[in-house]
Amino acid sequence: MEQATQKKVMISGIQPSGDLHLGNYLGPLRHWPAMIEEFDCYFFLADLHTITVRQDPAMLRRRTLEQLASYIACGLDPEKCVLFVQSHVPAHSQLAWVLDCYTMFGELSRMTQFKDKSAKHADNINAGLFTYPALMAADILLYQPDFVPVGEDQKQHVEICRDIANRFNNIYGEVFKVPEPYIAKVGARIMSLNAPESKMSKSMPEGCVFLMEKPEDIMRKFKRAVTDSDTERCVRYAPAEKPGVSNLIQIYAAATGKSYEEVEREFDGQGYGKFKPAVGEAIVETLRPIREEAQRLLTDKTYLESVYRAGAEKADYVANKTLRKVYKKVGFVAR
Ligand code: TRP
Repeated sequence: MEQATQKKVMISGIQPSGDLHLGNYLGPLRHWPAMIEEFDCYFFLADLHTITVRQDPAMLRRRTLEQLASYIACGLDPEKCVLFVQSHVPAHSQLAWVLDCYTMFGELSRMTQFKDKSAKHADNINAGLFTYPALMAADILLYQPDFVPVGEDQKQHVEICRDIANRFNNIYGEVFKVPEPYIAKVGARIMSLNAPESKMSKSMPEGCVFLMEKPEDIMRKFKRAVTDSDTERCVRYAPAEKPGVSNLIQIYAAATGKSYEEVEREFDGQGYGKFKPAVGEAIVETLRPIREEAQRLLTDKTYLESVYRAGAEKADYVANKTLRKVYKKVGFVAR
């Protein structure tokens, strides 16, 4: 495809440190299939990043493959984008070291995620946790992308990536393209089903619906979803007064493509008893084909292997071009 080279380039990574859930899906993931039509996309499983906190090795391996299968099942066609595993492309680690030397102690100390994570894992404040933004900058800059789609929580890391790129370019000339963060226009922010003031998160599994979960478990979670203790008991979108119901409306709207007003009208006068299982069913049906396809792919190890090998090969090629340039600029003797 000659034309493909003229498309804007985009890269994003997801850490295989937890099982994918509805928040991941209705937030970023659902929009990726459309993006691969518009951009030259690279998506990778950021396994190098996960070991900044302790991981169970067998679990990490399982999740990496499961997420790869889930991405494909969600519509990321490996023929149309580059899907790979970060640790398969050594240039990430290699460029990260170089960038470590162009990243300042002070700026790393200011990263909110470092402050949060070191408070949470006080017994394991390792150097990787601290220099993580330099690895993330390497992940990005290797591919000379125009955009980096990220959630709000990663914006600061894209900012520091830009600072590092500019600093390097100011010394050595235009080596790196300086990318823009890409914040999705339609980024649904899905809240926990049993604590709607917090974001849906794998750390609160009862309020979280996982992509691979069985329909009966999904239904149970929706039936138990917290609604609001106001007296009107009607399905009305009002996030401040009715966070639980509004979250369910948002989920139902995202799953069915209906507007909030249409959802309100559909359940007008029906109370929560009817509404909650209806949302559950809509989600069960949305996730069913994804789960079934992911499970099918997981039994086809040969296929999955062929996908990540081909992805690593394509990624390697592009990444090494940038790495060679960097090595040359800093004065390493070419092998
Ligand atoms: N740090 C990101 C996260 O925790 C994952 C990530 C790693 C990433 N490298 C990246 C995202 C490069 C975008 C681009 O969610």
